Amino acid sequence: MSKATFDPTQYNRSINPSFEQVLDKHLSRRHFVRSGLGISALTAVGSLGLAGCSTDSSNSSPVPDPGPDIADRSDVVLGFDSIDGAKLDAVVVPEGYSAQVLAPWGTPLNSLAREWQEDGSNSAIDQQNAVGMHHDGMHFFPLNGSAEDGLLCINHEYIDQSVLHPNGATLDDKKLRIDVDEVRKEINAHGITVVRVQLVNDVWQVIKDDAYNRRITGASVIDLSGPLSFSPYLETPFSPDGSQARGTLNNCGNGYTPWGTYLTCEENWPGYFANNGILPEDQQRIGISETKTRYGWDDLAGDGEERSDEFGRFNVTASGASGSDDYRNEANGHGYIVELDPYKPNSRAVKRTALGRFRHEGCVFGKLVEGQPVVFYSGHDSRFEYLYKFVSAALWDSADAEPYDRLSTGAKYMDAGTLYVAKFTEGGIGEWLPLSLDGKTTDGGILADSFDSLAAMILNTAGAADLVGATPMDRPEWCAVDPFGGSVYLTLTNNNKRVESNAANPRVDNKFGHIIRWDEGANATEFSWDIFLFGAPADGDEAVNRSGLTELNQLASPDGLAFDQRGIMWVQTDNGASAVSDHTNDQMLAIVPSAMVNSQDQQAVVSGDNQDQLKRFFVGPNGCEVTGFAMTSEYTSVFANIQHPGNWPYSNDATEQTPVGMTLRPRDATVVIRKMDGGEVGV
Ligand code: FEO
Ligand code: CA
Ligand code: CA
Repeated sequence: MSKATFDPTQYNRSINPSFEQVLDKHLSRRHFVRSGLGISALTAVGSLGLAGCSTDSSNSSPVPDPGPDIADRSDVVLGFDSIDGAKLDAVVVPEGYSAQVLAPWGTPLNSLAREWQEDGSNSAIDQQNAVGMHHDGMHFFPLNGSAEDGLLCINHEYIDQSVLHPNGATLDDKKLRIDVDEVRKEINAHGITVVRVQLVNDVWQVIKDDAYNRRITGASVIDLSGPLSFSPYLETPFSPDGSQARGTLNNCGNGYTPWGTYLTCEENWPGYFANNGILPEDQQRIGISETKTRYGWDDLAGDGEERSDEFGRFNVTASGASGSDDYRNEANGHGYIVELDPYKPNSRAVKRTALGRFRHEGCVFGKLVEGQPVVFYSGHDSRFEYLYKFVSAALWDSADAEPYDRLSTGAKYMDAGTLYVAKFTEGGIGEWLPLSLDGKTTDGGILADSFDSLAAMILNTAGAADLVGATPMDRPEWCAVDPFGGSVYLTLTNNNKRVESNAANPRVDNKFGHIIRWDEGANATEFSWDIFLFGAPADGDEAVNRSGLTELNQLASPDGLAFDQRGIMWVQTDNGASAVSDHTNDQMLAIVPSAMVNSQDQQAVVSGDNQDQLKRFFVGPNGCEVTGFAMTSEYTSVFANIQHPGNWPYSNDATEQTPVGMTLRPRDATVVIRKMDGGEVGV
């Protein structure tokens, strides 16, 4: 069930003139630019349209889709039967699998925290030393290569005050916050958990008091790097030189790096701040509130117990002479990809500003090539927002996979490079538009006409993307990269406000979402794309159920997305569309995209002919969203997160139903899915 807390409002008012007419048929086979022909060459010979996928052998398509090389196809076969949809206070897995609850919200990481209390009475200090709330993106970092011992990094996206506290938020008669400990507890329930976990006697356990365990919260000090660090935009009374920010908030999707660090992504952070004065352009564009903050943390500004403006900083109204006198710049320290070294518990996290400032859903690196730049992809999740990629200035050196200093390696690849935003056009053609100061705007100018520095442009990344003519998408969520061939997949979760379609977002009132994919072209500005999968109810008509889904795999609002190294793509949902949610709770499905070819040996999209290769693997409990994916190296344990369940978990067995009539204080949790015979999951 889609969370109601954040309405993914349309913040983009620019309405780029890049809309195409509705394509009323299945889109849109890619013309593989990787064959060496650039887009300009493709365009020159014309006849683009949908011709490239014609089955007519006389077709004169200039660049026939060669399909993936044999070496680029996974031969893995899904070894389970698609399970039925379910609506239970329990998770459901295929026969022969188990599912265990691990690290639920409030689990103590060390002895400073009391055990989690069923009545919600744990304190702010407890929460600072315990697993946070609303688990989201996640990654497993093995220790000594083990599949049974490692560090789980877990994002905590947001909070539910009615669950976090005994009776919700305590307010005065003006509906203002009055309880300092409650607010600190809320700030501490945000951020990231790093926790040591081990498989002991066939059960995954949290290792309390382990030296690796730690929390990064909404109050932790975090370094800033890249173009915005030490800029005047980041000056605050706390950090007058603009080198540090306090806290990371609304950590949604995640990533990791080839050099062994964790990436956490700041998504719906603007709502935590309010500006009661005149909003600068970037704050208008990104949607900082003009009235109040999401949880009212700033209500306690000036309270006698307040330390270092810990509450007042969320009100970003200018009141003093400069950014060192007030918190006008506090929000400028948010909206980034944050890098964390889980193996160094005393290291500070770093916000990598070069990768852009927006509502980052996730962050994933492209297929690595020795001597070529490292590429990161990240979607901006709001209606009509964009897809971005960052191309490092440094060239990949595989010796950096095991560096002496991981965060220095992060600086090497993530602090300097070029940010691009995607433009999708008909015929499967795409263009990456550079967001550099000499990047061209749609009216023939350059971005330098609008921004006087790279820092100013990155501060308002989405505003710069408006100017170059990026394609407004149906809420870009997670990206994932196929280890076979390197195609990149992006979930576009839904957009029920779309009244005018474009080629890459072809359904108006897109309630069910879709998954688009692309291949990079011969140079950094070219790509080719098609739509891999359309979410839909099984009983949807042809215009809606374009991928021919059935009751065994109908889905809506694809969101979490990940590949494992065998080439299995895992699709998670965050659905609010009743046409599907009447049949099943949120879920996780599996498919092997690189193995899907048509009779012409071309790479196939999901259709009525092959939809049975998309299999439902997991269904979450009532009320939840399924999000976050991690796996051990031997594919024997899969970790997935259950966020905001309604009345679960009842026991350590995630499949055990909460008895009818019993009401629990629900707990977000990781679920570990294993095969009962100890074998590889999924096959
Ligand atoms: Fe936090 Fe876009 O999901
Ligand atoms: Ca999400
Ligand atoms: Ca979502």
